[in-house]
This record gives sequence, structure tokens and C-alpha cells, in this order.
Amino acid sequence: MKISVIGTGYVGLVTGTCLAEVGNDVLCLDVDVNKINLLKQGEIPIYEPDLEDMVRRNVSVGRLRFTLDQAECTDHGLVQFIAVGTPPDEDGSADMQYVTTAARAIGQNMQDYKLIVDKSTVPVGTVDRVRGVIYEELAKRGVEIDFSVASNPEFLKEGAAVDDFMRPDRIVIGADDDKAIELLRTLYTPFNRNHDRLVVMDARSAELTKYAANAMLATRISFMNELALLAEKLGADIEHVRRGIGSDPRIGYHFLYAGCGYGGSCFPKDVKALQRTARENGTGLKILEAVEAVNARQKEVLLDKIRARFGSDLSGKTFALWGLAFKPNTDDMREAPSRMLITGLLAQGAAVSAYDPVAMDETKRLFASEPGLKLANSSMSALEGADALIVVTEWKMFRSPDFSEIRRKLRNAVIFDGRNIYDPDSIRTEGFEYFSIGRP
Ligand SMILES: NC(=O)c1ccc[n+]([C@@H]2O[C@H](COP(=O)([O-])OP(=O)(O)OC[C@H]3O[C@@H](n4cnc5c(N)ncnc54)[C@H](O)[C@@H]3O)[C@@H](O)[C@H]2O)c1
Repeated sequence: MKISVIGTGYVGLVTGTCLAEVGNDVLCLDVDVNKINLLKQGEIPIYEPDLEDMVRRNVSVGRLRFTLDQAECTDHGLVQFIAVGTPPDEDGSADMQYVTTAARAIGQNMQDYKLIVDKSTVPVGTVDRVRGVIYEELAKRGVEIDFSVASNPEFLKEGAAVDDFMRPDRIVIGADDDKAIELLRTLYTPFNRNHDRLVVMDARSAELTKYAANAMLATRISFMNELALLAEKLGADIEHVRRGIGSDPRIGYHFLYAGCGYGGSCFPKDVKALQRTARENGTGLKILEAVEAVNARQKEVLLDKIRARFGSDLSGKTFALWGLAFKPNTDDMREAPSRMLITGLLAQGAAVSAYDPVAMDETKRLFASEPGLKLANSSMSALEGADALIVVTEWKMFRSPDFSEIRRKLRNAVIFDGRNIYDPDSIRTEGFEYFSIGRP
């Protein structure tokens, strides 16, 4: 099938590449000249396991191409995926300007039938709004051309995006016309061989499904984070509690880890946007208000523990920070807990020496003008002369380090573990003062 993808970010690039991988003829559009130039040279602008090889493979056989030309993009695909960003507006609602611009451009350029698919996470009612914008543009041109609009929210996880797309748990399709459903069913057949993963519903339910999924996952995290604070006061261990409840199949083990708060490009903004939608419809979402408040509080927990140990004036102190990305296996630092922590430490007069296996360039871009932040070449060199180690992202390479080397390099044998990746007893046996989340 001929496919166009509008917006070549995390979701657009993964979608386009995986659809090319199974044999489709894919053209990806972006407005970012640097991004498209980089992609045309066979380089990818993000870190995502397995993606670069797959991009190169499909580019080399001509199944995957990149363009800045909107007319070429509209002309190419029978199916037009909209995968542009929907960042939070000032009032917390999803900023729809990029989706609207993309839809308008399709209406301005289309010459024959197109299926327009919203892959971006968009407020309920967007399929109707996109349809309206395209009608407007066709009316301005004085032409009548048949088209369909469908919702097909994306559930991939950064860090495992290719695998999630190639082996999805479910493929949600929200559409009100049979032609759209049949086209999407055909397009997704290669991802559906083992068993039928298609969940077909009306467009509004599909749009709400995406927000509900992210809100539920964020809720589980905030629930455990709040419980972790109580566990600390009670002398209980949240890790034992997690295993104790996770073993109940009605609860399960996923997304029950206490830590230093959730971040990323999706949970924070989607939790906000869903609350905004509820308010606009005259109702509230009290649970999500609490989820958000607990998360904001949790992002301060490491700094509180550091101040409790070292005092509130941290001038002259240096902290080694392991992990900058909002989670492992990505270089994405949108809303990452590390950002708030770095800003907080610098504001208290401390210096930070930081290391992340892949997010160093992104950190450089975000903190370019911060003299107090040093970027280390390796996890061990970040420790040189530091007063304590702080673990913020649970990269695998941090899980079983050489503790005697850590002790030799640090000025004080102190570890703050924002992800509970170490065992408290063995780390104390190694001679460390150890502070984690929700454990005595
Ligand atoms: N990142 C994730 O893990 C994830 C997962 C599921 C869903 N989503 C949703 O998917 C959407 C995209 O997220 P993302 O992380 O890929 O965003 P992103 O910021 O990485 O990429 C968006 C891209 O769209 C481009 N763009 C903006 N306007 C354009 C236009 N008019 N024409 C062409 N390109 C345009 C931007 O230049 C950018 O490259 C969001 O709604 C997000 O909530 C993201």
C-alpha cells in the first residue's frame, strides 16, 4: 500500500519504518529541515533500539523515503497518517495547531480518495474536527472528493518502540465507515498473523482509549509512589509490598515501581489533557488531579533526601548523577525527573557531574549555559571527587556496578537511589549509606 506519514518524530518514524519493513511504499514528511536531511543521509535523529538498521534497510531498497514537500506527501499515500506532536497548551489542553495544519494541507492538496488516520494522541472529537477542516479546504477549492477519517492511537513505548509496533498487544481502530475499517484491517494484516489484535470501535471511543490507557498507567505509578512515602514512615518496604500485590493476577506486576516520578512526552501531558477535557465537559477527574499532584511531589523526593543528609546549603558540594533520560533505552528527556533534580541542585549551590549512556547530546542541548553541570565521559568518571551518587534512571548498566570502585572515587560513600535498583542490605554491607524510595 502507498502510505504517507505526516510528522517524522518518535511515532511517525517508527510507524513509517515498520510499515515499510512489511512491504509498503512509505513517504514520511516533516517540517524540520535538519531532521529530514539527516534521515536522507541514513542517520536517525533519535535513539531507539533497532530503528536505525531498519531505516537504512528500507531506505536502501526504496520502500522508505523522506520529504519536506507537502504536495508530494499528499499525492503519495492512499493512507495519510497524522503523527505530529500534540504538546500541552498553556491551559493543559492538547495543542492542536500541528494536527490542524496537517489536516488543512491534505485538504488543500488532495486530488483523489484518501484515508486520513489520526495517530497522534488527540482529544475526543478530533476525527470530527479533522473531517471538518478538510471539508472546509475542499469547499474553498470548489471540489468534492471522497475521503475517510479514522482514529488509530499509538501505544508504542519509547525504548521498545520497534518491537511494540511489530508485535502490538492490540491495534485500536476507531472509525465510523466501513471503507476506512477495511483499509486499516488490510494494512495491519502482517501484524496480526498470530491472532486478531484489531479492536474496532467508534472514533470517539478510540480517542478516549488512548488517554485512558496512559492515565491508568500514571495512576498505578502515583499510587505506589504515595504508598512508598507511607511505607517509609511505617518502616515497611515498598518493594516487598510491590511483589506481594503484583502476584495477584487481578493486579499484575507492571507499572508498580515506586521511584522519583514519571516523566516523558506522554504521561504528564496526557494526564493534563484528559483532565482539561473533563472540565470542558462539566465534570472532573478527581483521581487524576491526585495522580498529578503526587507525581509533582515525587519529583522532589530525591532533592529532599539529599538536603536532609547534606543540609539545605549545598554550595561546594558535587553530586554524581547516573541517568538523564526519562527512562532507559531512550534519549528522550521531556519532563524527565533528572531535569528538575539538576535544576534544584544547581539552585542550592551544588555542582553536578552527570552521565547517561545515550542522552548526553540532549542534556547538552537543554543545559548548554549551565556552568555548574559537567558531562562525564563514563559512569565511573562522573563519580570522581563527588560527594554522593544519585541514580535517576534505571539503565541496565547501572544495576550491578563495581561498588568498591564507586567507594574509592566518591568523597563520601553515599548513594541516593531514585529507582530502588540496589539491595539495601548488600549495599550497606559494601559500606554505603543508602537512601532509596519507600524502604527503611
Ligand atoms: N513518543 C511516544 O512515546 C508516543 C507514544 C504514543 C503516542 N504518542 C503521540 O504521538 C504524537 C507524536 O509524538 P512524538 O513523540 O512522535 O512527537 P515528536 O515531537 O517526536 O514528533 C513530531 C514531529 O512532527 C513534526 N511536525 C509538526 N508539524 C508538522 C506538519 N505540519 N507537517 C509535518 N511534520 C510536522 C515535528 O517537526 C516533529 O518532527 C503525540 O500526539 C504523542 O502524544 C507519542
